[in-house]
Amino acid sequence: MSILVTGGAGYIGSHTCIELLSAGYEIVVLDNLSNSKPEVLKRISELTKKDFKFYQADLLDKTTLEKVFSENNIEAVIHFAGLKAVGESIEIPLHYYHNNITGTLVLCQTMKKYDVKKMIFSSSANVYGVPKLVPITETSPLSAINPYGRTKLVIEKILGDLYDSDNSWSIALLRYFNPIGAHESGRIGEDPNDIPNNLMPYINQVAIGKRDKLNVFGNDYDTHDGTGVRDYIHVVDLAKGHLKALEMIIPITGIDVFNLGTGTGYSVLDLIKSYENVTSKKIPYTFTHRRPGDVDKSYADITKANKILGWKALKSLEDMCYDSWRWQKNNPNGYGK
Ligand code: NAD
Ligand code: WQD
Repeated sequence: MSILVTGGAGYIGSHTCIELLSAGYEIVVLDNLSNSKPEVLKRISELTKKDFKFYQADLLDKTTLEKVFSENNIEAVIHFAGLKAVGESIEIPLHYYHNNITGTLVLCQTMKKYDVKKMIFSSSANVYGVPKLVPITETSPLSAINPYGRTKLVIEKILGDLYDSDNSWSIALLRYFNPIGAHESGRIGEDPNDIPNNLMPYINQVAIGKRDKLNVFGNDYDTHDGTGVRDYIHVVDLAKGHLKALEMIIPITGIDVFNLGTGTGYSVLDLIKSYENVTSKKIPYTFTHRRPGDVDKSYADITKANKILGWKALKSLEDMCYDSWRWQKNNPNGYGK
């Protein structure tokens, strides 16, 4: 029996593949490589000393998807594949809706056809929109405020409807907060195309000398130092959360949702300070205007994942910063061309 990992060549997917293989699972990876490179697949095998099947295919390609299910004995699917840039989703919403939502529909139809009814879905803290209260619990109001977040919200609803129509499904919706960091080997990490949108990859590029300075988006937020506060979580802790969710969904049926974060919020300046301390690299920055759509504070209440999945993030902010830097330092050009 194998676990199908859609988007397994991506940032979170690749780290999860390592944890799955290391724990003895057989995996099949499907990815269209629209936001990832084939080199990562070699490195997953190199680090785990395990082989796995890879299909370079698009979720929207029903014929190939059917082939994946007919050629393999799939027990469950971890569904990472999707487009994830908030700003881009505002520019090309139809592409985001089609890729993320239609892609998930095609996947679910195929799973149903092959009687595979266990799925973990990558949702996002983005579904909480502008949170009224922190920490954010799974029952906090949902109000996505951009097309990307809406794709996640719609997919959560679709999966809820699917379960209501057929109670033999078993689905975990995982709402990730802000994944950063990299594998401790320094061989696997986040490799953004173009100018990074997110804070940690941008800081990494300043540290390596690719960019002069960081623009800190706003210093007048209602936070301890005026800069935005987020729940940064080490990507390896996050990957491990998927194994806990898998152990939960395999023997049962049902649908449930979990926040995956650390439960602690750090500001942009906290992150810069920690990065500078552990790497001895200076990160020059200037304050600029707020980025539209950004919220003051977002951090998770993690009680539910802790109690039900028996999972807790273990790595510190220092670990996250150091591991991010080690990846950047060892791979100045990411996975290369
Ligand atoms: P990523 O872009 O690194 O990985 C996604 C992978 O999916 C890429 O390798 C891409 O090539 C692939 N993909 C996209 N569309 C596809 C399609 N139609 N068919 C086949 N493959 C396709 O992103 P990530 O950071 O690893 O995120 C993984 C998932 O987690 C995404 O669904 C994302 O929305 C979600 N998420 C990410 C974050 C974050 O900050 N990184 C936070 C919350 C949720
Ligand atoms: C973090 C903080 C910025 C860049 C996004 C998605 C979310 C999830 C994670 C997918 C904020 C500040 C950033 C910079 C800065 N992804 N910042 N200068 O916006 O919390 O979350 O990624 O699901 O859905 O919305 O993450 O890393 O972009 O920003 O000052 O150059 O860093 O204002 O306070 P965000 P981020």
